[in-house]
Amino acid sequence: MAFIEINGGKQLNGEVNIQGSKNAVLPILAATVLVNGIIKLNNCPKILDVFHMIKILEAIGCIVWWEKSSLIIDTTKLNTSTVPEEYVKMMRSSIILMGALLGRTHSVTITYPGGCTIGARPIDYHLSAFQDMNISLEEEDGLIKCTTTGIKGNEIFLKFPSVGATENVILAAVLASGRTSIINAAKEPEITELCKFLNSAGAKIRGAGTETIEIVGVEFLYPIEFTACSDRIVAGTYLAAVAGTGGEAVLTGIGGDSLHTVIKLLREMGCSILTGENYIIIASSGRPKPIPFIRTMPYPGFPTDMQSQFMSVLMMAAGTSKIVEEIFEGRYQNVKEQIKFGADIRILGREATINGVPELMGCEVYASELRGGAALVIAGLMAKGKTTIYNPNFIERGYEDICRDLRGLGADIKMLA
Ligand code: EPZ
Repeated sequence: MAFIEINGGKQLNGEVNIQGSKNAVLPILAATVLVNGIIKLNNCPKILDVFHMIKILEAIGCIVWWEKSSLIIDTTKLNTSTVPEEYVKMMRSSIILMGALLGRTHSVTITYPGGCTIGARPIDYHLSAFQDMNISLEEEDGLIKCTTTGIKGNEIFLKFPSVGATENVILAAVLASGRTSIINAAKEPEITELCKFLNSAGAKIRGAGTETIEIVGVEFLYPIEFTACSDRIVAGTYLAAVAGTGGEAVLTGIGGDSLHTVIKLLREMGCSILTGENYIIIASSGRPKPIPFIRTMPYPGFPTDMQSQFMSVLMMAAGTSKIVEEIFEGRYQNVKEQIKFGADIRILGREATINGVPELMGCEVYASELRGGAALVIAGLMAKGKTTIYNPNFIERGYEDICRDLRGLGADIKMLA
């Protein structure tokens, strides 16, 4: 059984290049089925979730191969719109294939994705939007069968700016007849990146990154080469690691634009941060200042995908911090593992109170989801002595090689089996 071993208590110093973005690349890979041709996607991270998406694309008839860090997808031989159950169970975000396959084939059959440790994660917003676009749904034995005689553009109001629902509506609307307006759309940078990809392939989308997105359907999209943006959450994770251990680091391949709230809070913790178009420099003197209050929110608010990592840093703050998790009801699962380091964390409903302690001690912990796993790595780097993290596969879902990257910053960390 693989595990990560860390000898902590050392500062981080050095330079690290940030990988391509998981949450930008996954919807773009789904969007490739809207194109009947060969697409080249550069800066595609070699992470488990991408490998899962490749398996799905191959299972529906696409041919996929790597050229260094570029992925080539040939969708000309697509031959089914039934998404194999085993892959949907493995990766929730396969649900975004619904809009793309409906756009391409006017039908899709897929399993209900089910929840994960961070929350129930229903897809009701996705399905009700589809029904407003002339798509009929049938549900049988956990399977959803959607068909359409032709997708019709419409005004879609989202009760909550859901990232996945916004992406699915965009994918369904691109080849639809007429105009679609998404009101209260998600504004995450990954949505903007998806729309950039689709517009480069001939789509007509305006308003990406705002709460109102307008899509005028086109007849077809054409094959392109596209370079995906770098991963703001991976960058945020490494910035948090330096904030927790102390030291000085340069992150390359990403600027500060998509990390405003994260950087603002790191500065409040006492870090000095410089940003440029394609780099972020952080310096930290070790023990962070507490943050009285953090609330996770849709973009541009503080990202829920950085909540656990910040909690690890605040475990050694010089005082008390509070976090309210507004997005996912089960995102404190990881706390029982973080407490093993000697942290003082109290959970009351959606609110976590973290009373900073002067020292953490290495221990044995178990990852149970992606960002929680990354937060355990940060705690292990901050703690004195040896830490062992089991189930690193959860971390590999979104981090190409977290040990390689942190070793580049001087950490004593390795993957063992
Ligand atoms: C995306 O998930 C990201 N995943 C998540 O990142 C991220 O945490 C989340 O957005 C929020 O930013 C990808 O991009 C692949 P949502 P998604 O739909 O689309 C509720 C990571 O670590 N909801 O915006 O699934 C839902 O339960 C992952 O990289 C409904 O109730 O998130 C949640 O409480 C984890 N009904 C909230 O909305 C719906 O139909 C936000 O979910 C849809 C969502």
